[in-house]
Amino acid sequence: MIKWSSSTFYFILHNFPLNPPLIHIGALSLQALSTFFQTTSYTQILVLMDENTSDACYPLLKPFLPPHKTLVLPPGEQHKHLQSCMAVWQEMTDLRMDRKALVVNLGGGVIGDLGGFVAGTYKRGIDFVQVPTTLLAQVDASVGGKVGVDFKAFKNQIGLFAEPKGVFIWPDFLETLPERELHSGFAEVIKHHLIGDAKGWEALKTIRSMETLDLAAIIQHSVKIKSAIVKADRKEHGARKALNFGHTIGHAIESEYLDSPVPLLHGEAIAIGMICEAWLSWKQGFLSETAVAEIKEFILTFFPQQKLSKAQFSHFYQRMLNDKKNQGGAIQFSLIEGPGRYQIEQEVPRELIMKSLDFYGEEIG
Ligand SMILES: NC(=O)c1ccc[n+]([C@@H]2O[C@H](COP(=O)([O-])OP(=O)(O)OC[C@H]3O[C@@H](n4cnc5c(N)ncnc54)[C@H](O)[C@@H]3O)[C@@H](O)[C@H]2O)c1
Ligand SMILES: [Zn+2]
Repeated sequence: MIKWSSSTFYFILHNFPLNPPLIHIGALSLQALSTFFQTTSYTQILVLMDENTSDACYPLLKPFLPPHKTLVLPPGEQHKHLQSCMAVWQEMTDLRMDRKALVVNLGGGVIGDLGGFVAGTYKRGIDFVQVPTTLLAQVDASVGGKVGVDFKAFKNQIGLFAEPKGVFIWPDFLETLPERELHSGFAEVIKHHLIGDAKGWEALKTIRSMETLDLAAIIQHSVKIKSAIVKADRKEHGARKALNFGHTIGHAIESEYLDSPVPLLHGEAIAIGMICEAWLSWKQGFLSETAVAEIKEFILTFFPQQKLSKAQFSHFYQRMLNDKKNQGGAIQFSLIEGPGRYQIEQEVPRELIMKSLDFYGEEIG
C-alpha cells in the first residue's frame, strides 16, 4: 500500500497569463471546488465519469457539489473515441444544457481528455473543470489544456486546446487506484525530472519503490514543471515540445497495442519510449552513455521489460510517420541533453530508431 505523508498539504498554482485556471493541489482541493461553485452560477452541471470513478470517487466528491446530473461511460482508452463523445453530446442535448452549463470531469486522462473535448466543442464551447483521479492525470493530463480523442488507432488525432476553469487535484483519490495505474503515472513523473529538474533526478534515481514516495509532493513538483513549460509555450511551437520526450516512440507503441488483448497503459508505453529516446539522445551526442544506462536501469525497476519483436519495429515506425509532431514528413524527436535539459525538433534516421528499439530489448548489467 502506498503511503502519503502530506494529508494537510495544500497548494494553489496560478498558471497561465490568459484566462488562468487555478490549479488546486492537496487536502483542501475539494473544498476549493465547493468555493468555486459558490462564486459562480451555472445553469446546469453535468458530472462525467467512468464506471470505476463512479464507484470509487464520486461518493467522495458528491458532498462538495451543488445539484447536478451525472453520466457514466465505460472505462478505458478503447472508449476514448468519437462514439463516446456522441453519447455525451446526446445527453447534453437531451438535458437541454445551454452555453452557461458546466461539465465536471471526474476521472483519469481518458475522462479528462474526452470530457474537455466534448465541453470545448458543445455549442462552440462551454466551461469545464478537471477533477483528476489517477496519478497520470494529476501530474500531467489535467494540466496544459490539451483535450481530445483517438481516431481509429491514432492517438489524440482529434482535439483542441481548451483551458478548464479550474483543476482540483485531491491526492487521496489515489488510494483506490490499482498499482499498475499508479506506475503508469509515475512514467510522466520520471519524464518531468528528466526534462526539467537535474537535481530532482539525482534524488529520484535512488528510489527503488513507489512506496517511499510522498505522492502529494511529487504531484506538486510535476505540475510546477509542466505548468512552467506550458506557460512559456501554450500552443506547442517550441518549449512545450520538450514534454514529448519518450512520446514519439511511446505513442507509436501505445497505438500499436491499442487493439491487442492486453493493451499497454500510456505510461508503460512512454517508459519504453523514454529508454529508446534516451539512447537516441546519446547517439545524437547530447547525453553520456553512463546517463543512458542509469535511465534504463531506473525505468526497468518500475516497468518490466516487454518482449518486442523485430516484426513489430516496422509497424511502430509506420505509426511514427503519422505522428502529429512531424514536420514536412520528417519524424521529430524531443531528446534530452543531460537530465534537466532538452533539445527539441531533432530528426533521427530510421536505422537509429530501429537500433534504439534493439537497445531497449537488450538485457542490462
Ligand atoms: N491531455 C494531456 O495533456 C495528456 C497528457 C498525458 C496523457 N494523456 C492521456 O491520458 C490518458 C491516460 O490517462 P490515465 O492513465 O489516467 O487512464 P484512464 O483515464 O483510463 O484511467 C485508468 C484506469 O483507472 C481507473 N480509475 C481512475 N481513477 C481511479 C481511482 N481513483 N480509483 C480506482 N480506479 C480509478 C479508470 O477507470 C481506468 O480504468 C491517455 O488517453 C493519454 O493520451 C493526456
Ligand atoms: Zn504522456
